[in-house]
Amino acid sequence: MLRTKKTRPRKGSVSIDELIYPLFVKRGIGLREDIPSMPGVFRFSPDILVQEVSELEKVGLRRFLVFGVPDEKDWQGSNAYKENNIVSESVYSLKARFSNISIITDVCLCAYTSHGHCGVVNRGSKTIDNLATLELLANMALSHAQAGADFVAPSAMAKNQVKAIRSALDENGYTQTKILGYSAKFASNFYGPFRAVANSAPKFGDRRGYQLDYTKSESALAKIKQDIKEGADIVMVKPSLAYLDIVRDVKNKFNHPLAVYNVSGEYAAVKDGVKNGFWDEREIVFEIISSIKRAGADFIITYHAKDIASWLKRG
Ligand code: PBG
Repeated sequence: MLRTKKTRPRKGSVSIDELIYPLFVKRGIGLREDIPSMPGVFRFSPDILVQEVSELEKVGLRRFLVFGVPDEKDWQGSNAYKENNIVSESVYSLKARFSNISIITDVCLCAYTSHGHCGVVNRGSKTIDNLATLELLANMALSHAQAGADFVAPSAMAKNQVKAIRSALDENGYTQTKILGYSAKFASNFYGPFRAVANSAPKFGDRRGYQLDYTKSESALAKIKQDIKEGADIVMVKPSLAYLDIVRDVKNKFNHPLAVYNVSGEYAAVKDGVKNGFWDEREIVFEIISSIKRAGADFIITYHAKDIASWLKRG
């Protein structure tokens, strides 16, 4: 029979438990700020974040990736790891209110440093001090674990970051806190809209020194292997669409839980196309998500998660 009606989302194509929804939080009361580069995504204050999660829970979402947007930045990114930092405070209030959610926190300094790099930068040589970075990342991860995070997700691409965080967590009794490693994170143009969220674009230089070169796939596989060895419970490939070959290779080579990050630029491009009438949002989102799953993702981090959840619910 010829189908005249549009195809509706196939329920089997993705399940809600495979989706991870990113959330941005900043200090304040009653805030729900638009992010112009990412329509449909907001910066919430902790009180509104709690309301939002309650809505998200109703449509079945229960895995969240929390990013902090600090009020102030400094050279060392001190708002990332100081006591009662915005992420810890939010995680604490979410965990107090919801018992059935899983919270992952992003562990990286770039939103918090005045220079916008992901680690500690030597003032003179403008190079990253890896050891000093590891110490701060470990402090940041520990502060999130203390607040009740289920997973911490190091995304600074510092050498041995998973190992340093695993040791710090274990030494402090947080043996149950898991690690989602941003293992294969490419130096990508697709992060553009995200960098506008916390004004985190590097003020000098770029991230090619510590993020991966997209002309090479071997280094991605080596990074995945290393992160698994260092104790990552889940590994990640990021971005998604231009990197599905890597996703497939990782899935075939390593029998390890794999998350794939459908990043801000991929999301913004879909939104632009919808605005221009190039495609139907629901149709294109299901096509994209299905392709990421087909390549081998166990979890998909996506800004579309809220829409997908409500589409699946409506059927
Ligand atoms: C922090 C971080 C970035 C993203 C996630 N964690 C940005 C970057 O490396 O510039 C990008 C996410 C997205 O584009 O949606 N290092």
